[in-house]
Amino acid sequence: MTEPLNAERERPRLAASGPVRVRVPAKINLHLGVGAIRRDGYHELTTVYHAVSLYDEVSARRGDQLTLTMEGEGAGDLPLDESNLVIRAAQVLAAAGGVPAHARLHLRKQIPIAGGLAGGSADAAAALVACDALWGLGRSRDDLAAIAADVGSDVPFLVLGGTALGTGRGETISPVLARPTSWHWVLALAEGGLSTPEVYLELDRQRAAGLGPRPLGPPDPLMAALRQRDPVILGAALGNDMQAAALTLRPELGAVLEAGTDAGALTGMISGSGPTCLFLAEDQAHATFLAAELSGSGVCRSAVAVTGPVPGARVL
Ligand code: C5P
Repeated sequence: MTEPLNAERERPRLAASGPVRVRVPAKINLHLGVGAIRRDGYHELTTVYHAVSLYDEVSARRGDQLTLTMEGEGAGDLPLDESNLVIRAAQVLAAAGGVPAHARLHLRKQIPIAGGLAGGSADAAAALVACDALWGLGRSRDDLAAIAADVGSDVPFLVLGGTALGTGRGETISPVLARPTSWHWVLALAEGGLSTPEVYLELDRQRAAGLGPRPLGPPDPLMAALRQRDPVILGAALGNDMQAAALTLRPELGAVLEAGTDAGALTGMISGSGPTCLFLAEDQAHATFLAAELSGSGVCRSAVAVTGPVPGARVL
């Protein structure tokens, strides 16, 4: 007998008795194609998301109301009320599951805030997975990804992880046929963040003064590169339509990109809307070397070597 398609949803529901800990990765965009502005104010995207091994962690415990505490990156800078995506994710899931939004949530952050690595979206994805387990809802990953779209454009991808194509405003995820390989990256973290809406606005300004949005197409060279194992080919296929706008708002990032490529990175690029810069390395030893060079160069706050792809939000 074959398993019903929704077997995952039909498992007995067991609410967690102890704390649930969920680890979630940061994302980079191997390709970020930005199209025209839609009626709802979002930009049409064709992007290739890639989850990398820089992690945040959300833990969820039973409680009689919904609370959030945090430690690590940006503690003290982030509001812990309903404007925090973690709280919003828990509320959206509780409404969808018909349960009270009661949990004591704690966030341990390493992913920088407003860094172009979707840290806030990652935390929301982790909250969805943690509360699903705490409340015994037993939602499938695909169900959680569908709910995640109401929380933010990048949240569905961070529930799923890996390497995936994002379309629509980024929330529609489809798998990418890729050879199982680990790629080695270095992330150069900046002091201070960049606001994603402001970078989109700058991109719109530049396009209004120039040629307008370019038509969006599938990133064929990147798709072909992901079916091979050659980092030189992958490096040549990376691209980010938001890079010029991020560089206009933060010109000093030019020196970060130069420092990485001078040190021997295969390619350097702004991550998402920035200000994190990402560099592709040949292998792990090369990534460790590049991270040390960038850390010592004084052009960035710090640099970390990471690998990708890694899975999305997972219970530990
Ligand atoms: O979806 P999310 O809330 O994370 O998006 C944050 C902001 O980024 C949006 O309010 C919008 O200004 C901008 N955005 C956009 N087009 C997208 C995704 C985000 O203009 N596809």
